[in-house]
Amino acid sequence: MKNIKRIGVLTSGGDAPGMNAAVRAVCRTALTRGVEVMGIYRGYSGLIEGDIRPMEIRDVSNVINKGGTILYSDRCPEFKYKEVRAKGIENCKKLGIEGIICIGGDGTFQGATRLTEEGVPCIGIPATIDNDITSTDNTIGFDTAMNTVIELVDKLRDTCESHARCNVVEVMGRGAGDIALNTAIASGATAVVVPEFPHNDDSICKRIKRAKELGKRNFIVIVSEGVGSEYAPALAKKIQDDTGVETKFARLAHIVRGGNPTLKDRILASKMGVYAVEELLRGNSNKVICERNGDICSVNINYSHIIDRMYKEKLEEGDLDQFTPEEIERMKLELDEKRSELLALYTTENKINL
Ligand code: ADP
Ligand code: F6P
Repeated sequence: MKNIKRIGVLTSGGDAPGMNAAVRAVCRTALTRGVEVMGIYRGYSGLIEGDIRPMEIRDVSNVINKGGTILYSDRCPEFKYKEVRAKGIENCKKLGIEGIICIGGDGTFQGATRLTEEGVPCIGIPATIDNDITSTDNTIGFDTAMNTVIELVDKLRDTCESHARCNVVEVMGRGAGDIALNTAIASGATAVVVPEFPHNDDSICKRIKRAKELGKRNFIVIVSEGVGSEYAPALAKKIQDDTGVETKFARLAHIVRGGNPTLKDRILASKMGVYAVEELLRGNSNKVICERNGDICSVNINYSHIIDRMYKEKLEEGDLDQFTPEEIERMKLELDEKRSELLALYTTENKINL
């Protein structure tokens, strides 16, 4: 065990329901082990500006159920520059912060890696509705976002049924179709469009026409924002023109990022928060906490970045040099598994939503 006296905690990037549950778990774990906690407000912006205050046990009372983040969040593009990060590191030294738990997504972890390299050990907790951190099965906020989507789509379906309409619904997810694929199945959508699989607008229209002939009155088409912001409104127009079914378009956007976290997100956030502090106190750093097959573990942030890039087919020259051929093989197998899970969801949606 490392003799750490004071740590910091911050939330950064897009907020996600469950971030507060993670902050709470981090605070309570540290404080009960006699480690002081400093809340760093507005992510890396607060770190460089010194917007940092001590947190006590009661500061995280009544937050496990709350959406958003009590520490607030920010995108701080200038944190990519070493001279800007130096201000943050100076603030840590001044306040005696010996390590930071950084709660956020992929960008947040890049910042955490730089900080670790430059003298402040960091541990990352994956919180983003997009579920686009390849090394973990689930990110905090993903489950809540999906539940919000199905609640909203159920409402749209009611009115579509009354008026015999179609509604094209665009959902967030950045480059990942996870939210769209899962919610399309769970909301009984007629079709789904995600960036991971090719799509054909004519076959979507044919599907709607066929279902209409079979007596169906409501049609929901879920589109992931990752296919481009122009796509979903244009698809709505095409469906109306080709099928004669009046078609509305709805972009759910940030509404899906708010709200009380689900039970699943509260538990995931709590487990990850506890594990993150324990990792830091064990003397580990530059790790991201993951959930794999129900177990909480940690992987190197660098590994997490590289496997992400491998998955997104964005590997850069030299990325794999640090891994042995056996490790690369294991990474490929892991990705094959992830791709086949997504394909299974896509196939299921296609088979049953007629
Ligand atoms: P997320 O963490 O949800 O992926 P962002 O991509 O906006 O969200 O990243 C959050 C923040 O992390 C950024 O605003 C920036 O402060 C920091 N960050 C992102 N990329 C880097 C990088 N390459 N180096 C240092 N900091 C970074
Ligand atoms: O990463 C979370 C997310 O909500 C994405 O789904 C979306 O593409 C993006 O953030 C929106 O970012 P902003 O809040 O900056 O509009």
